[in-house]
Amino acid sequence: MKWTTCISYALNSTKDTKRARKFVLNNSVVSSLLGCPHYPNKYFRRYNFIQKKLVPLDVYIRDSQLASNKEILKKYVDLVKKTWAYGFSDKIFNFDRNCGVDETENVILFDFCEITFLKEEVRELIENQYWLRKESYRDLSEELQLYFKELMSQELTIDNLEKVWTTSLS
Ligand SMILES: Nc1ncnc2c1ncn2[C@@H]1O[C@H](COP(=O)(O)OP(=O)(O)O)[C@@H](O)[C@H]1O
Ligand SMILES: [Mg+2]
Repeated sequence: MKWTTCISYALNSTKDTKRARKFVLNNSVVSSLLGCPHYPNKYFRRYNFIQKKLVPLDVYIRDSQLASNKEILKKYVDLVKKTWAYGFSDKIFNFDRNCGVDETENVILFDFCEITFLKEEVRELIENQYWLRKESYRDLSEELQLYFKELMSQELTIDNLEKVWTTSLS
């Protein structure tokens, strides 16, 4: 597996990102959903971290056929639901530039500065279908846009949020 060094100035900037950093260090499943970030030493931790090197989703989508792209979008939605089970969520939904694909085709949220731990915030994003306003959605082909829109409205629902939120936390 390859690793890459990421800049993490923003990680020091908000309560949620500080909490995310602590969370990944204490929970191996959460860590794997976020590309197994680690912080080799104290100085390093303030500015950089090391994370799995992934194929960014925009690159993957550009280089793949429709059927694979539909699968990968499904995996992104599954990833979001998995994070809900751990009590956090992507709140930016620019999935093609904040997620990547690993060597076994898992989708991983590498930009975990962009998460929230507030269920009410997620609820609002769902109610507004916030993802439809984002560049990642707009940059999809027309066919993938239709697919994604439908998939998101079926899967990222208030009902599923209520059903899943924090269920994987002991
Ligand atoms: N783990 C990673 N593997 C591969 N590419 C990455 C990884 N982390 C970031 N990148 C690349 O760097 C870009 C910016 O990274 P990101 O973490 O989203 O920071 P920011 O949004 O603050 O610029 C991504 O869109 C992606 O192209
Ligand atoms: Mg980003």
